[in-house]
Amino acid sequence: MLTAGYLQFASEYLAVDRNLDAVEAHLSGADADLLVLPELFTSGYFFQSAADLEAVAEPVPTGRTTKRMKQWAAETNTHLVAGLAEREGEAIYNSAVMVTPGGRVETYRKNHLFYEETRLFEPGDLGYPVFDVKTPDGTAYRLGMMVCFDWYFPEAARSLALNGADVIAHPSNLVLPHCPDSMPVRARENHVFTITANRTGSESKGDETLAFIGNSEICGTDGEILARADRTGDALATVEIDPHTARDRKINRYNDVFGDRRPDTYVQRPGNERASAEETVSAER
Ligand code: ACM
Repeated sequence: MLTAGYLQFASEYLAVDRNLDAVEAHLSGADADLLVLPELFTSGYFFQSAADLEAVAEPVPTGRTTKRMKQWAAETNTHLVAGLAEREGEAIYNSAVMVTPGGRVETYRKNHLFYEETRLFEPGDLGYPVFDVKTPDGTAYRLGMMVCFDWYFPEAARSLALNGADVIAHPSNLVLPHCPDSMPVRARENHVFTITANRTGSESKGDETLAFIGNSEICGTDGEILARADRTGDALATVEIDPHTARDRKINRYNDVFGDRRPDTYVQRPGNERASAEETVSAER
């Protein structure tokens, strides 16, 4: 069995030390095998400038956020997943890192960038990797990561599931209101567990404000909501799950979520990518 959960809190813009300390205070009361923290949890989200982002981007695993996560993971015997701005050479990625109690660090780089992220970050270049992990009591499972807006693209969760994920950790800074109602579908259509850790609060740039919607959420493999946080306020919740139930993808004795896929029917016809519905119909006549 796996005790898995999320930590929801309000990051403060560019207040890296304050945000690290806030998370450390929450973790001292936590009892989990796997805990997911929000996207960009040490830096905040709505960057005023590229220079602000440059100032907080860190290499992985040698940057201070990953180092601190390694310390927490070892002290609390918890696998931690969290979002941070990752610097590699000149490039900055909106990444999620997974840190184990033994000090292993794995990375996913957000593939679907949202809004002004498209001007600031490089799109991910690591695909959808899935990692073999083990709880302290020896439960082996496979963990995949996606970051916030990746939820809007069913291909992200599908790719992780096809790559073998039992559990998808989903650090987020959600602003669109639809994700908490969509993640149960992502969980059900892929028969995986999902853990979305969102933040609260708001950040402004000029006359524009982004309000983060809270509602962190854990979904089971049938799409059931196992835990959901309020829209405001800090929250730490965990549930007990058996990650291996994700491996039985039967819907009934005739149907199987993956076995019944028809990839041959999903392929777009070459040259037709931008055709309007009308053009598609006339081409088919
Ligand atoms: C988002 O992708 N942070 C909305």
